[in-house]
Amino acid sequence: MDFTRTVLARRMVRAFKLDPVPREKLKRILSLAQHYPSAGYSQEVSYVVVTDKEKREKVRKLRDLRSNAPVFLIPCVSEKIVHDRYHETDKIRSGGKEIDWPIPFWYFDVGCSCMLVFLAAVNEGLAAAFAGSVGIFKPGILRDELGIPEHYEPVGVLSLGYPDFGKDVPSPSLNRGRRLLRDFAHYERW
Ligand SMILES: Cc1cc2nc3c(=O)[nH]c(=O)nc-3n(C[C@H](O)[C@H](O)[C@H](O)COP(=O)(O)O)c2cc1C
Repeated sequence: MDFTRTVLARRMVRAFKLDPVPREKLKRILSLAQHYPSAGYSQEVSYVVVTDKEKREKVRKLRDLRSNAPVFLIPCVSEKIVHDRYHETDKIRSGGKEIDWPIPFWYFDVGCSCMLVFLAAVNEGLAAAFAGSVGIFKPGILRDELGIPEHYEPVGVLSLGYPDFGKDVPSPSLNRGRRLLRDFAHYERW
């Protein structure tokens, strides 16, 4: 699909058809999601792919998800990998000090990767959605259940599958409308 159409067709979809996602499609999506940019090319993002019915049910309950998606992707990010990378000789500052971190780049990187999942899904005729509300999300239990290493943090759950637009209820947040381009992009100065 043409890039502009892909971007414009992307929606957070919360209702899915029962059809499973073919392994080849899943593999292509994950291969593209691996092309995210990362600070120092740290490559600190990893996914747990959950397709098994019983495991999906557990993830659904842990995250209190209503999604009936045939695939859940759990994006995980390791801050430790970035710190380790920034201690390597080409990154470490004189005096052996790590750079200051005004922005936690690892969250930027995992967001970039998730966007590739969203767009690659559309390109495959699928749809995806992110659920990451704080409060009901229990990263500790999810980590134990899925064997996620201690230094990786699960940031939420991505649902993936064939969209069921007949049943999908778009977020009421969309009623807020999109802000004007002139309030979004500020040329030369704000
Ligand atoms: C960080 C983040 C967290 C979100 N959490 C939820 C969520 O918990 N439940 C939900 O239904 N949608 C969630 N959304 C989806 C937003 O509501 C949605 O992206 C927004 O309304 C714009 O709609 P669109 O993505 O379909 O264009 C989340 C989106 C982001 C980026």
